[in-house]
Amino acid sequence: MKKVLGLVISNRKLGNSEILVKEIMSNIPEECNRELIRLTDLEIKPCRACYVCLQHDKACPVQDDFNYIIEKIREADALIIGVPVYFLGPHGYYKMLTDRLVGAQNHYQDTQGKPCVIVIPYGTKGWEGYSKAACIVMPKLLRMKLVDCWQIHATLPGESLLNPENINYAKALGRELFNKPEYHGGNQECPVCGSDLFRLLNENQVECPICGSIGILKNNYSPDFSDSGYDRFSDQEMNEHFKSWLLEMKERFLAEKEHLKELQKGYQNQSWWIKP
Ligand SMILES: Cc1cc2nc3c(=O)[nH]c(=O)nc-3n(C[C@H](O)[C@H](O)[C@H](O)COP(=O)(O)O)c2cc1C
Repeated sequence: MKKVLGLVISNRKLGNSEILVKEIMSNIPEECNRELIRLTDLEIKPCRACYVCLQHDKACPVQDDFNYIIEKIREADALIIGVPVYFLGPHGYYKMLTDRLVGAQNHYQDTQGKPCVIVIPYGTKGWEGYSKAACIVMPKLLRMKLVDCWQIHATLPGESLLNPENINYAKALGRELFNKPEYHGGNQECPVCGSDLFRLLNENQVECPICGSIGILKNNYSPDFSDSGYDRFSDQEMNEHFKSWLLEMKERFLAEKEHLKELQKGYQNQSWWIKP
């Protein structure tokens, strides 16, 4: 039987993220085992940048709930994420979880190609900020098939329920979860990853800061990425980054370690740290 995991990243009980994740999950026609995790009830500590998880078969050594969550994501056949906009970006716990994926290379064999939907409720029109772009990163690192990245305007707890169109959209997402094609965004979004933010380069070039594709801003200001051919989340680029580049950095670190230690010593006695 298929397993579907709902990841709710809001402390608000029966808030928009929770309701929409539940609406999607309850409309999946396939017989499936449904599980929900409220990420804010779990402990996610910061990545300690030890890179132990880069090694094959080495779990993250940080003592918290990350290994439980990543196991649940790995064993699920589909992932539905509900994450609200908090100050122009996704809720901070989403970034905390994304930062723990340095070992994505050792997880993707279980997650690659599996459908993932992200629902992003936000309260103020025009205050969506960089939330969509930031949310795309996690499923892409796990090489999942992002099938929708839905920003939905809903301010009050449960307000998404007031508009029947929202509920119908959520129901359709549930019904089509396992058959939907990959999400590519609209005309004004990056056709490679779906991000809605661009960096202006020289001349009329634009870069997608998420997948790194480079396009041209045409006269009608719509970005044209047809000649790009680059995607940092492609298998080739991911392997290059995680298997080659990061390992090269490890070698470089080992070579420079003693020299760097000497330089660092100059700052050791400046112990102005305070704690409550
Ligand atoms: C701390 C905080 C910051 C917020 N920042 C934004 C924001 O920058 N932009 C926005 O559109 N909504 C913002 N909101 C509103 C929430 O995104 C909105 O109420 C959403 O529906 C909450 O989802 P939930 O019910 O699943 O918790 C903020 C809410 C909180 C509590």
